Amino acid sequence: MHPDLATAPHRPDNDPLFFDSVIPDMDALQNPSPRLLLAPMEGLLDHRLRSVLTAASHYDWGVTEFVRITDSLLPRRCYARVAPELDQGSRTATGVPIRVQLLGSDPACLAENAARLATLKPAGIDLNFGCPAPIVNRHGGGAILLDTPTVLYRITAAVKRAIDGSTPLTAKMRLGVRDKSRALEAAQALCEGGAELLVVHARTKEEGYRPPAHWAWVAHVAEAIPIPVVANGEIWTVADYLQCRAESGRRDVMLGRGAVADPFLCERIRDLLAGRRVRSATEDWGRVWPLLERYWSLVRTDLVPRHTPGRLKQWLNLLRRHYPQAAALFHAIRTLTDPAEIDLLMTAPPAIHSSGRPRHALI
Ligand SMILES: Cc1cc2nc3c(=O)[nH]c(=O)nc-3n(C[C@H](O)[C@H](O)[C@H](O)COP(=O)(O)O)c2cc1C
Repeated sequence: MHPDLATAPHRPDNDPLFFDSVIPDMDALQNPSPRLLLAPMEGLLDHRLRSVLTAASHYDWGVTEFVRITDSLLPRRCYARVAPELDQGSRTATGVPIRVQLLGSDPACLAENAARLATLKPAGIDLNFGCPAPIVNRHGGGAILLDTPTVLYRITAAVKRAIDGSTPLTAKMRLGVRDKSRALEAAQALCEGGAELLVVHARTKEEGYRPPAHWAWVAHVAEAIPIPVVANGEIWTVADYLQCRAESGRRDVMLGRGAVADPFLCERIRDLLAGRRVRSATEDWGRVWPLLERYWSLVRTDLVPRHTPGRLKQWLNLLRRHYPQAAALFHAIRTLTDPAEIDLLMTAPPAIHSSGRPRHALI
């Protein structure tokens, strides 16, 4: 155990002042409104789902799934494919800025690609040092780089030089590869290389996506570097947000699966912070259903038909964590592979909810 963990903040019960008193957070003083960010999630959170989720809740910004850089200068269309938002000022339809994430291990090649990407005027460029995928790690990219802080520094510094202050540069890291012993060193390298903000997914590569997330470690990282640090990992509910905030000392968080499982989680956190009543997810199926309809229509419009059912099932699979109605729909479409059959279910006349909001006929 890291010696600092002995002094890790622990939230005392019923102490309303605790959040403001644990760790002095200079960034929070300068940015009174917390940053709530939408996480990159390759294969799940593409531009279609981004457009739906950012219409449901206001995020300060979102990050695209990673663009993998190996040994060549990618054509502009590669960026446009992952981030069609680039064509509209790097914003979603509701105006949420979208930053583009790069993943790679070669500083020169990343720098060259970042320079090209910068000409497309993304809202920011984010560097991925958290991906645990074996195929990516075998080629020296993603989380595996956390073992070599000098390379982290070289990559960040090269990219920073290449974009020449034109574009905000951020980085996203895990706490290490096998253990957390080099977490602070890695964060310092990214900061010294020129990252202006660091998102910390509070787990090592080996910990994968297994709970818990080690939020207290985010506090250690934040104490070690002078740039803003954003906590990430295992925030599924408003209660998780509060607990993460207590343990990490961070008000700024990035939401991943939690935002997909509850499209209004970000809004609930904003309500909490503004002192408004926080609606529970059980009240909100009537607001989720139109999002699902919208998503299905986007997927049907521009994905090859055979890929469409999987996309909807993936989202429903997470939604069913909070919404029994999503579980019923998931169950109904689980074995369907023909999108036309799903069309029938998705366009079936909705039963009317007592509040007058549409409610799916299956429930
Ligand atoms: C399906 C999936 C794809 C992901 N893809 C990316 C990615 O492209 N880039 C990245 O930095 N992190 C990626 N992540 C990690 C998430 O951004 C986030 O750090 C992680 O899921 C923990 O946050 P959460 O518990 O809120 O989901 C991915 C996670 C999942 C589950």
